[in-house]
Amino acid sequence: MIKTWRLDDARQTLALAARDGRCPEVVYWGAPLPQDEDLCALAAVTQLDVTGGMLDQNPDLSICPEAARSFPGQPGIIVRREDGTPLLPQFTLADDALQDNSLKIVCADLLNSLTYTAVFALDPQTHVIAMTAQLDCDRPLHLHWLAAPVLPGAQSSDEMVDFAGRWCGEFQMNRTPWSAGIRYRENRTGRTGHEHFPGLMVPCRGATNTSGEAFAFHYGWSGGHRMIAEELPDGRRQIQFGHAARMETAPARSFSTAPLYAVYSSDGLNGCAVSFQRHLRDRIVPWTNAEAPRPVHYNCWEAVYFDHNLDTLRDIATRAAGLGAERFVLDDGWFGRRDDDTSSLSDWEVDPRKYPDGLGPLIDHVHGAGMSFGIWFEPEMINPDSNLHRAHPDWALGAEDQILGRQQKALNMALPEVRAFLYDRIAALLRAHPIDYIKWDHNRVLPMPDAAQTRGSYALLDQLRADFPQVEIESCASGGGRIDFGILSRTQRVWLSDSNDALERLHIQHNAALFLPAAVTGSHVGPRRCHTSGRTLDITFRAWVAAQRHMGFEMDPRELDVREEAVLRDVTAWWKDNRHWMMRADILRLDAPDASVVAEQQLAQDGARFVVFAGRAATAAQIAPRPLRLTRLDPAARYEVQLRNRAEASHLSRGHLALKDGPVKLTGAALMHSGLVLPWSFPETMWVLEGRKL
Ligand code: GLA
Repeated sequence: MIKTWRLDDARQTLALAARDGRCPEVVYWGAPLPQDEDLCALAAVTQLDVTGGMLDQNPDLSICPEAARSFPGQPGIIVRREDGTPLLPQFTLADDALQDNSLKIVCADLLNSLTYTAVFALDPQTHVIAMTAQLDCDRPLHLHWLAAPVLPGAQSSDEMVDFAGRWCGEFQMNRTPWSAGIRYRENRTGRTGHEHFPGLMVPCRGATNTSGEAFAFHYGWSGGHRMIAEELPDGRRQIQFGHAARMETAPARSFSTAPLYAVYSSDGLNGCAVSFQRHLRDRIVPWTNAEAPRPVHYNCWEAVYFDHNLDTLRDIATRAAGLGAERFVLDDGWFGRRDDDTSSLSDWEVDPRKYPDGLGPLIDHVHGAGMSFGIWFEPEMINPDSNLHRAHPDWALGAEDQILGRQQKALNMALPEVRAFLYDRIAALLRAHPIDYIKWDHNRVLPMPDAAQTRGSYALLDQLRADFPQVEIESCASGGGRIDFGILSRTQRVWLSDSNDALERLHIQHNAALFLPAAVTGSHVGPRRCHTSGRTLDITFRAWVAAQRHMGFEMDPRELDVREEAVLRDVTAWWKDNRHWMMRADILRLDAPDASVVAEQQLAQDGARFVVFAGRAATAAQIAPRPLRLTRLDPAARYEVQLRNRAEASHLSRGHLALKDGPVKLTGAALMHSGLVLPWSFPETMWVLEGRKL
């Protein structure tokens, strides 16, 4: 007996089958199947043969693989009774409901009184499938591991790509060939982390950014995840995502995973990227006003650090506004006695030495300059050298003799009194002043992973958002240490990296675009000599790299010379002229044939215009640039393409190139298949091509 279900949209079919009343398996996920496809026959033909050295039947690779059914790989659930007795669940299908692109499967283990519920919700516009699993019992259990619904890994894939990184070097792509055994990523730091972005891409053989089949996954949770990509002895592959193991420290009757977001694409990694970008922007991020343009930021961190002086800040604010900034963010240093990073976290009261009349005079000045005002907090943290720690040392998380991180501990966010304290301090400031933005930082890992900590942080964010719905929040954690769809369902921007080095940023934001749309991705023009890399980069490159995402400035504007100011004003004005469509555009990674070029095309959703950013990250191996092929254009349509910044061509570009003289007109077919040859350029420069459909 086989029972089947299917979810469909224009791009894909997901088909499940339950054999003889057992827990269902995903038997197909890929290009759309005809509506009259016989799913029972499909389920039957996807069964593997049996030969020597195998069991007499192949155990199901179900959405929750069960150890008790001889499954030869990692099970979907590991759980114990309160007294420590291990349970080996064995489920039978109990109930199912298919409606409006969503499928609910309920399985029961009557012997152990367990209920397993999986929900699949397919969004036919973004093509993202969001999946969650829940485990319920009639008595408390200790949970070791609960996987979100388990999916098969593509057999036609040779390698998988997951993500690593570090401070100032987020979103590094790791390629690992599939082979027998497990590719296991587990983040036990209690924070999403620079090192562990919870994502996986599974390109099928031959897939590139722009073509071929690919699958992608993202686990939307900020407390640290576990990923298992396993090839079984019989060759089948499974992909599991969930919270890091043993994160639930107390027994409970019910446990749930965060959503696992999964995407199938038939047009390369970009198909996955566009789905995630749109889904995040249009379904997940709680915009305070989706119609309002994203404001150009000014953040004072790399200008003044902890050295706050009202006159200096006023001067900086005036200059930033003159360059085009629309929001001024007062970073770390305004509270307690915070003169460096050794003290005062948790003492969220304005420092009267620096602000004798409070923040009012600065905020008034910022508003007078036409900007809105934002402020930095690091709510979950406490310095041992703080009034709060002296009063409530027990509010800190972890052992007293723990290793500190940036001289600080985390607060125990599971404690209601800690959340109430933080709420009161933050709310008091938000009530006292017209503040419409919080940069919410989280600068250390936790002493140990604990799901209750993440739930506590989410609860505080939710309470503040409910009471201050107009305040936007940026998720920062030493740069990109807390970026995931869980935090982004409560925030509107991420500080992608503490690296304001445009060359590093070019790479980081190129890879992050596999998941993140421009509208949430902060990118700032840093100082002439980068504070985190020591590299000196020209203002044109710094400005264009920031203009690829949600633009801002973070240098001391007093360092800018006349030319730098002019360039920055010009690029910022260009960004403002284009943000109405760019912040809703799809970011498409281009397959540059030249390894030293990092190129992307931002295509308006209506296809009527695009901009290509071709960053030259290094000198090329060959003398002349190779043609850059565009993507996703209408082959029959004609486009006018012009080099927006052709005035930046160097004197070493001596040839007569059409693009250097003015716009060219070509069909989409020519732009996609022949491509465009760009002028020779120095490393650490960017060509910006604007295109319009005629
Ligand atoms: C972290 C952030 C920075 C800045 C500092 C302030 O490092 O990532 O952007 O806010 O904290 O201390």
